[in-house]
Amino acid sequence: MDKWDWELFLTPYKQAVDELKVKLKGMREQFNINSSYSPIEFVTGRVKPTPSILEKARRKKVPIERIEGEIQDIAGLRMMCQFVGDIKRVRDLLAQRNDFKIVEERDYVTEQKESGYRSYHVVISYPVQTVNGEKRILAEIQIRTLAMNFWATIEHSLNYKYKGQIPDEIKERLYRAAEAAFRLDEEMSQIRGEIEEAQQLFLHKTDRSK
Ligand code: GTP
Ligand code: MG
Repeated sequence: MDKWDWELFLTPYKQAVDELKVKLKGMREQFNINSSYSPIEFVTGRVKPTPSILEKARRKKVPIERIEGEIQDIAGLRMMCQFVGDIKRVRDLLAQRNDFKIVEERDYVTEQKESGYRSYHVVISYPVQTVNGEKRILAEIQIRTLAMNFWATIEHSLNYKYKGQIPDEIKERLYRAAEAAFRLDEEMSQIRGEIEEAQQLFLHKTDRSK
């Protein structure tokens, strides 16, 4: 294990995260240029720190030689949306691209986790161009609303604070907070629906008055 060259191993992952950040942020820019509504609010990305990779490999009993194929979130991207309905749209935008391939999907939006966690996960196979030729790596893209992101960020820091052993009472509160975030998302989607309906009605009226 001492001989494992982390710098060498992580180089293509760093490159992939840098490139994907530019590409995914570019999608938002394109919507903005056309002054159309962007289903993407903001994008973040990171390479998993080495201690977290090792911790996950230990937890999942993955030997170091196999982490490349079995730990899918060494390169991680997040795309935040305003509305739940945008998540599927962003997923479809990713699926139609030809610079990477979706290899796995996990829908924790309809099937929320026990913790209360919700997000749509897309695992892609991304080709990195290196001086030794092309190398395909796995990257995980998490698509979620701002409310889902707020919840997951807080829950993640509490998990860190309690080293994964969040006391039951706090766990329950977190679960209730997840339900509140869910209701907020629903409420916002309904308000949006009504605004759009009103706009359609207005357009229709002005059209006929011509
Ligand atoms: P682990 O959950 O890390 O064991 O990964 P996995 O290989 O089982 O994949 P999964 O899709 O379950 O989760 C991958 C990533 O989703 C994690 O690294 C987190 O970023 C996020 N995630 C999954 N579950 C939760 C959760 O309960 N809370 C928070 N805050 N994030 C989660
Ligand atoms: Mg998991």
